[in-house]
Amino acid sequence: MLILSIESSCDETSAAVTRERDVLSNIISTQIDEHRIYGGVVPEIASRRHCENIAAVVNEAIDRAGVTFSDIDAVAVTAFPGLIGALLTGVNFAKGLSLSLNKPLIAVHHLRSHIAANYISNPDLKPPFLCLTVSGGNTVLCEVKDYTDFSIIGRTLDDAAGECFDKTARAMGLDYPGGVNLDKIATVADPERYPLPTPKINGDPYDFSFSGLKTAVINLIHNQKQKGNEIDVPVLCATLRKKVCDILIEKTFLAAKENNYKKIVLAGGVSANSELRSRFESECKKRGYEFYTPLLKYCGDNAAMVGIQAYYEYKAGNTADVSLNATATMPIDLR
Ligand code: KG4
Repeated sequence: MLILSIESSCDETSAAVTRERDVLSNIISTQIDEHRIYGGVVPEIASRRHCENIAAVVNEAIDRAGVTFSDIDAVAVTAFPGLIGALLTGVNFAKGLSLSLNKPLIAVHHLRSHIAANYISNPDLKPPFLCLTVSGGNTVLCEVKDYTDFSIIGRTLDDAAGECFDKTARAMGLDYPGGVNLDKIATVADPERYPLPTPKINGDPYDFSFSGLKTAVINLIHNQKQKGNEIDVPVLCATLRKKVCDILIEKTFLAAKENNYKKIVLAGGVSANSELRSRFESECKKRGYEFYTPLLKYCGDNAAMVGIQAYYEYKAGNTADVSLNATATMPIDLR
């Protein structure tokens, strides 16, 4: 089954052609350079660029796959969650394509796609497994019981881990996207020199909170500046990275143990983080868990992962029609 998929939930316009779990093409047009001057994604600019780029990106995905539009069996699109104007561009384009080709339309949840990126990189991976999805807007710990059956057991109560990296990196003077640059320049953590708080949460032990940590780093930077002290940016980056990894790793292993999972999967943009990947890998080896994470090229937003998840949504009978609308927020277990 050949699926043409479209992703436009944030600042990447992407289209792909996939066959079940195989990627025939995956074109990504990124807007990072344009948003960099503002230090973050400007939603209105993102929507406009998606409108300008989408037709060319889709045509290139078809060409690179060596197929024609008439070979396509279904059209898939990220419909939720994301920036509403950005999502609408992809959703409307996909609806038009589905109508004109007279092929089924499949609406795909963005985080389900991030998880599905693992199916491309790990052909033997099958649910059930426990998955930690960490991105710029979400931090979710969920049980993946089947390809389209998800159950959330932990989530961030405020900021996502990626947001914490991005905003503290900006306060340290690093370029957008901060998380990527913070990871690149981080050296060795020194928690004595830069003591950072560990968030405490009442209630669910699998929930996360990163806003206090974000504020603590920003306050520390301002405080040191007011005293005329230089911040050792690579050391502060490493200290924060270690703290975020400690939190993510501790809660994930607790959830895996208490819920009897032996397979741990990492997904989302922050799964590209070098320390997070290497520590999860070594901890899983040490504690006897199987560990899966996407290839680096599939960690960020891309349409190939949308196409892979769309295949499973289609098999489960989850198709959409022209009444499909984009939705800015949507829990992973609902659609
Ligand atoms: O999943 P994603 O591409 O977009 C969302 O759907 O949010 O994730 C983007 C996030 C950004 O916060 C970015 O800074 C972060 O992933 N990120 C990283 C790394 N690469 C991307 N954070 C830490 N270390 C990295 N290597």
